[in-house]
Amino acid sequence: MSGRIPREFIDELLVRVDIVDLIDSHVPLKKTGTNYVARCPFHTEKTPSFSVNRNKQFFHCFGCGVSGNAISFLMDFSHLDFVEAVEDLAVFAGIDVPRESAGYQAGPKKDDLNSLYVVMEQVAAFYVEQLRASPKAVDYLRARGVQGEIAHDFMLGYAPDKWSALAERFSQKLLIEAGLLVSKEDGQAYDRFRGRIMFPIRDKRARIIGFGGRVLDDSLPKYLNSPETALFHKSREVYGLYELLQKNAKPARILIVEGYMDVIALAQFGIDYAVAALGTAASQAHLDLLFRFSSELVFCFDGDKAGRDAAWRAIASVFPSLKGGRQIRIMLLPQNHDPDSLVREEGLDKFTERIQTARVLSDYFFEHFSKDLKLSEKESCSNLIEEAKSYLTQLPKGVFREMMFEELSGLTKRYILDNEAILAHKKQEKKHRLQSGRLSLPSFVIALLLQNPKFIEIVEQKEIDWNQLEFEGVEKFKSILQMIAVNKPTNYGALLEDFRNHTDEVIVKKLASFDLLIPDNGIEAEFCDALNGLLKQGREAAITKLQAKADSKGLDREEKELLLKMLADR
Ligand code: UTP
Ligand code: MN
Repeated sequence: MSGRIPREFIDELLVRVDIVDLIDSHVPLKKTGTNYVARCPFHTEKTPSFSVNRNKQFFHCFGCGVSGNAISFLMDFSHLDFVEAVEDLAVFAGIDVPRESAGYQAGPKKDDLNSLYVVMEQVAAFYVEQLRASPKAVDYLRARGVQGEIAHDFMLGYAPDKWSALAERFSQKLLIEAGLLVSKEDGQAYDRFRGRIMFPIRDKRARIIGFGGRVLDDSLPKYLNSPETALFHKSREVYGLYELLQKNAKPARILIVEGYMDVIALAQFGIDYAVAALGTAASQAHLDLLFRFSSELVFCFDGDKAGRDAAWRAIASVFPSLKGGRQIRIMLLPQNHDPDSLVREEGLDKFTERIQTARVLSDYFFEHFSKDLKLSEKESCSNLIEEAKSYLTQLPKGVFREMMFEELSGLTKRYILDNEAILAHKKQEKKHRLQSGRLSLPSFVIALLLQNPKFIEIVEQKEIDWNQLEFEGVEKFKSILQMIAVNKPTNYGALLEDFRNHTDEVIVKKLASFDLLIPDNGIEAEFCDALNGLLKQGREAAITKLQAKADSKGLDREEKELLLKMLADR
């Protein structure tokens, strides 16, 4: 969709929507004290530790640590990206999302997109009608063992073998934009899909965005797909996801196969959790999309050499998406089979067993690697290790990555160090030190401010020159303060939006959800005390530093004046 969503709109939206109503409509909440609680929808628990705060417009789970504002809730709960979540929230609030105009390159406007979606839906219905009217097409599906119910679930259709079946019925302009007509140089246009079984491709929100079409005989090309259009981006969509989610919104695993007919045959045999990448190798975007719905993906490849090569290429591209809690497994099929033919030959149980016993990616990776290692001469050994390392360094940092490095060390009987991990470890230690025990004074002040953004007025009244103060983390302190001062968020939920994807997002969230154990009526006094304490501490530290410099290198005039002024203010 084109055009940025204006920032002010998002702020307004967050003010209009009450997060308690929003969450309550998805997860029934119970009121306890000032908070609303429920069993956390993001992890399994017996007693409720998921809490929603109306004043702060913020949710937080003490069990698993998730937290955020209304937009984050929709992103996590409904598996949406940011823009989708804003759109859904606007629907909840009953208002339209405005778009900033994006200059002359702007894509189609929302209304135009809507009419494209409508025409896609109408064309799909037309193809379904045409299938009923074509004995030849029905016979083809029957011969391939496709049952009526499945054909209905996947809205299979037939594009009649004519040059202008669509053009006669629908707006030519929309058909061209939707990729359903091909324009010729002389300005004429003809139907792209003719004499083909049609597979509508839906996005996860049920809208038809493209089609695949298969010939009834062995003419070429066997399959034809919609071109890239304003609606259809092959590298981001998979076939069968919508139909899968209809059956199960949280599947234990998702099987990734190659073809339309594989998805359909598997569904018919009860494996209703398969999707197909649309005639391309699975991309990073595909994986990120699928990992939103399930923590386990099983790749299905042909057992021949080409299939194994494809598996290896896929492994390289999935490494950056792997992190703790995400699992990928590789399933190789017997020669000369695809999932369609195999499930028909073996039936549900055998096929399911193959899925369950598919090798996890790390085993697959090391098996492949150690086979090469055994065969290679000593000197090419180090090349191999370097190559393996180059795969592993693409893994996101975390326990899984550490385990992979350990395994590589074990296999090669050498200690293979992950340089980046060592660095990360040191940082982590520092962070832990910070987290355990009490907050430092600057962190305490910021935490209070984050939890009560209106206190920014108290800070502003004091007209503090932060550049004259010295304390640990003063730069970070200033940048968070600045953000609050500029945006003046009405509550914590709005403030979170200011920090989305910001370098300080993590620390802000942490401090904001820190339980400060102060009764409501004492917060303001506590804040004033803490702020004064910080100013004093900062001034003393600055004085000490200046005096030390005076003793060693001496001070320039400006510094001297500053020191005198500070001593006088003491
Ligand atoms: P396959 O050639 O393996 O076909 O293509 P299939 O899925 O087994 O199809 P059937 O069983 O003969 O009907 C796998 C996938 O590759 C894409 C399609 O998405 C297809 O489902 N493909 C294949 C194309 O896009 N164009 C083609 O010409 C062929
Ligand atoms: Mn096939």
